Order: sequence, then structure tokens, then C-alpha cells
Amino acid sequence: MQNSITVGIVGATGAVGVEILSLLASRKFPVKELKLFASEKSVGMQVTFRNEKISVQSLNATCFKGCDIVFFTAGSKISKAYAEIAKNAGAIVIDNSSAFRMEKDVPLIIPEINAKALAFHKGIIANPNCATIIMLMAIAPLHKVAKIKRIVAATYQAASGAGAKGMHDLIEETKAHLGGTEYTRSVIPFPYAFNLFLHNSELQENSYTDEELKMVYETRKILGDDSIRVTATCVRVPVLRAHSEALNVEFHTPLSSKKAYEILKNTPGVTIYEDREKNRFPMPQDAVGQDNIFCGRIREDLSQDNTLDLWVVGDQLLKGAALNAVQIAELLLSKIEFTSPRKTKVLEESHAI
Ligand SMILES: NC(=O)c1ccc[n+]([C@@H]2O[C@H](COP(=O)([O-])OP(=O)(O)OC[C@H]3O[C@@H](n4cnc5c(N)ncnc54)[C@H](OP(=O)(O)O)[C@@H]3O)[C@@H](O)[C@H]2O)c1
Repeated sequence: MQNSITVGIVGATGAVGVEILSLLASRKFPVKELKLFASEKSVGMQVTFRNEKISVQSLNATCFKGCDIVFFTAGSKISKAYAEIAKNAGAIVIDNSSAFRMEKDVPLIIPEINAKALAFHKGIIANPNCATIIMLMAIAPLHKVAKIKRIVAATYQAASGAGAKGMHDLIEETKAHLGGTEYTRSVIPFPYAFNLFLHNSELQENSYTDEELKMVYETRKILGDDSIRVTATCVRVPVLRAHSEALNVEFHTPLSSKKAYEILKNTPGVTIYEDREKNRFPMPQDAVGQDNIFCGRIREDLSQDNTLDLWVVGDQLLKGAALNAVQIAELLLSKIEFTSPRKTKVLEESHAI
């Protein structure tokens, strides 16, 4: 029965969409049919999936007919316009945008952390913000042992977070800068080569950007604890791919760095990556193309009790987006029997993996 899954990807030609395609193949997701969607400029483009050429289509009111699962990865506007249409056509939507993340009826899932919340979905499931996923993969296991009171996060976010065009801008502006020529950036708003800037998502009245507020509110929703205080400063750095984060985490009870290492060494999806003799800790280049989040340099904060500092790095196109979305789909398959291309039956309560 599981061989009869018809999958759609909206935004199949983008930075995240391409990774979803590749993961569906490499993880042997039981795809019977694949429907790929992108903007008008890509319609007709041939994309190879498991040695088969598939034409990219445009979105319309009937394009999701027959789809069981549709990944949305084309931005919030497209998700808001088309996710309900996909849902009403009988598909389960896994949305990478921020369109529905904070809606009550929409589970916000990191499979290793809150898979149980998947049981409450009503046809739309949200994939969290990339910086939030990378942060929580490292600290949610610690929260289970000594409840988190407050998080102070500083992010160092790569060009790939701004999509395929963001990566292109960084490469081309760097070449132009070194060659002494001019390059006009397409999506990056500020000088980027050999520079950094505060994340340019919308600035709110309280002087936080949307990206920073996502880390605040999504953390509380995923951990199911509104008492956790979070503050973040999000920065775009001239790194091509993989985000880094400096985290200062205060707990309600003592937690030694030794214990934190022990916990994270045994956490699926997390790799402790360091060589103290060589002063070598995780770097973005280590994490590129890797499923796991890399963590290191866990230390007890000298300035405050019950507080740890951690350094975390992760490929946000993978665990921060595409991989997490595909894991959600795998989780759905483990608890749902697709009885026909358009009807699904829940077999059992969701379970943590
Ligand atoms: N990049 C990340 O690290 C990351 C992480 C987490 C979540 N996300 C979220 O994932 C989504 C995609 O991000 P991305 O980085 O992959 O962006 P991207 O590289 O710019 O790709 C955007 C995709 O959306 C398609 N698209 C644009 N306008 C469309 C339209 N009118 N109709 C149909 N398709 C359209 C594009 O098609 P064309 O190629 O034809 O233009 C492309 O396939 C966003 O919601 C983003 O917030 C991204």
C-alpha cells in the first residue's frame, strides 16, 4: 500500500525543493508519482528523479488532484494561496514557509522532539524555522533533564537561507569584489561579500526582526512551554551554506557541561564534533550536506549559575528544512495507511522517534 504515494513539491526548483527531491530518492521514500510545481518561468523544465524525467508544472485550482502528500516550499504567499486547495483535494500538506506555523490547529514538528503533536494535524503540518530547528535539536534533549528557563541566541546565518538566488548573489558579488568589477545583487539587500548584516526580515515595533521572533514563539510551541524566555539576534554572514549559532541557555536546575555532553552524545540527529587539543570546533563547512546538527564547546557560563554556552552548526537546507520535512512525511507513513490515492486512515496514535 505504501508504494501508492503520490507526492507533490511546490517550489521544486528552489534551494529547499531540490534537496527534498534528492532526499525522497536517497531515503527511498515510496513515491508512485511525483508532481513538481514552480513559477511560470520554470514550467516545462525537465527535472530528473530516479532516472525519470519529470516536467515542472504551474499551479492551478486542480493541480493537486490525486496527491497524497504535498511539500510546499515556495514562500508564505504561495502557501497561503494554495495549501488549502491541496488539502481540499485530499492531500496532507507539509509546509516549509511561516504561513501557518503559529496556527493552533497546525502542528509544528521536529520529529526527534515533538512527533506526538503530529496526531492533531488537520491536513496541514508546519516545518519550523531553520534557525529554530538547529537550536532545538541541541537543547531540547537538555530541557528534558533540567527545564530551560531562558535562551539567549546569536545566529550566523548562511546565504542559502535566502534561497538559490541568495547563494548566487554571494558567489557573484565575491567574484566581482575580487575582480574589481560591479555586481548587482538580486535578493540580498546589502553589500554581502566580506561583510555581514542583521537579518533583513521585517523589523517589528519592538525592534526584533521576524526571524528573531520566530525563534521566540516557535521554541515555546515546539517545547510546549510558554514560560521559556527567549531572546535572539539573527545575523546574515558571508557563508554559502549552513547556519551557526551561539546559545546561552539558563536552566531551572543545575546541569553540568559533562552531563550535557553525555546527553548530546547519545541524541539521534546530533554529533558532538570537536578536537580540544587542536582548538577545533564545528564549522559551517563541516555541516554542509550532513543530516546531523554539529555541536561543541559546551561550557558552564562563568557569569551565571545553572547556565551553559553551546556552539551549534547545521545544514539548514537539510535538517533546517528539507530533511525535517521529509522526516515528517516518513512519520506520517509510519502511522497512516494510504488506503486509496486520496483517502487516508489513521492506524495508531503518533509516537516519538
Ligand atoms: N533556504 C532555507 O534555508 C530555508 C529554510 C527553511 C525554510 N525555508 C522556506 O522554504 C521556502 C523556499 O525557500 P528556498 O530557499 O528554497 O527559496 P528559493 O530557492 O528562492 O526557491 C523558491 C521556489 O519557489 C518557486 N516559486 C516562486 N514563485 C512561485 C510561484 N508564483 N508559483 C510557484 N512556485 C513559485 C520557485 O520557482 P522558480 O525556480 O520557477 O522561480 C522556486 O522553486 C520559503 O518559504 C522559505 O522561507 C527556506
